[in-house]
Amino acid sequence: MRMYDLIMKKRSGGALSEEEIRTLIDSYTKGEIPDYQMSAFCMAVYFQGMTDEETAVLTDAMANSGDRMDLSEIPGVKVDKHSTGGVGDKTTLIVAPIVAACGCHVAKMSGRGLGHTGGTIDKMESIPGMQTSLTREAFIQAVKDAGLAVTGQSGNMTPADKKLYALRDVTATVESIPLIASSVMSKKLAAGSDCILLDVKTGSGAFMKTVEESAALAEKMVAIGTQNGRRTAALITNMDVPLGNQIGNSLEVEEAVQVLCGQGPQDLTEVCLALAAEMLFLAGKGSRDECLGLARNAISSGEALERLAAMVRCQGGDETYIRDPGKFKRAPFSAEVRASESGYLTRMDTEGIGISAMMLGAGRETKDSGIDYQAGIILKKKTGDQVEAGEVISELFTSQKERLDMAAQHFLESVTIRPSRPLPEKLIYARVTEHGIEYF
Ligand code: URA
Repeated sequence: MRMYDLIMKKRSGGALSEEEIRTLIDSYTKGEIPDYQMSAFCMAVYFQGMTDEETAVLTDAMANSGDRMDLSEIPGVKVDKHSTGGVGDKTTLIVAPIVAACGCHVAKMSGRGLGHTGGTIDKMESIPGMQTSLTREAFIQAVKDAGLAVTGQSGNMTPADKKLYALRDVTATVESIPLIASSVMSKKLAAGSDCILLDVKTGSGAFMKTVEESAALAEKMVAIGTQNGRRTAALITNMDVPLGNQIGNSLEVEEAVQVLCGQGPQDLTEVCLALAAEMLFLAGKGSRDECLGLARNAISSGEALERLAAMVRCQGGDETYIRDPGKFKRAPFSAEVRASESGYLTRMDTEGIGISAMMLGAGRETKDSGIDYQAGIILKKKTGDQVEAGEVISELFTSQKERLDMAAQHFLESVTIRPSRPLPEKLIYARVTEHGIEYF
């Protein structure tokens, strides 16, 4: 079987056999297929797609490309979540502690930033001392002790995805339904939880720009999870505007703590409560309404905040940053971005805003670049808000002064101000389960 022939077959719209897909993943993981051929293959998939059967086999081959986590020594139901990626998306840091506070165990494997989107591991590493590359034993112990743990793709878990994810990031092949579905679900299957909730983001800051594309992706992932014996569901949530008001690693940890103290922004709080309730429902904790009540109570009782502090402690981090987020230092250089005219903020190009945050140092420009944990953006105005010419719409932070002007310009070009107020948008568009799609 020659790689050239597989690329040609996919380029002409053919479907690969099970044997061809398994050999492809096995050989790529072992380093026997060069990145330039794999890039060509990913581009062929981007244009030609894959059948459901091909996507299911690809997912299984990637899930089995390395070790799989055995969580059987952790008692009770284990629940996992995964977001397809967005801007200001700090939901894991809020939802996982809420679910743990309600008596479920959350054993989660997370990623770093991809493209213009942030990653939970980078956010966690902004907390001094935090370990995000846990051995299997340390991970299981942390889940047992704190009720939750979040680790990076450490050791030999899904090495095929690790290589492919980095390759797709630099070859413009991220936005493909079969490639995203297999990437997300291979990690979720290998991570071993009983229940999986997928947060499929939609809009200008997401990889899927329309609700229809997001629903198609969600359906594929839910089908793969269900076929593999996991209780799986998805919520399709709005990423046409950044989630919450703070973007950037330590800024997002700060905002997550605000939500867990009952003082977070309304959009972020509502999305997190819905995600947590859905996870609790999958875990059999009651009806959807009862689960929403449990989630609210976990915040108001302070128990969810305690779970986050416990997770940080168990993973070697300094929990005083959770108890007093004022300890996070602001980056030394800042600039205010002001509205160029009066009117209403009618659109935020959320990908553009994610790129502005990246320009400030909050994300990686290349796979090997470092992160400025204090860099980021505080939004003072969001879509739907009225603004006066000259009013501050955001504040930018960085440790490298020379980055400010370009990021401010990019931010300004990413927002649109018009004379009339835009119609309000939904925060949650739909729920996808094995029984179908329910639009809200
Ligand atoms: N998140 C993933 O884990 N993989 C993708 O391909 C996109 C988002």
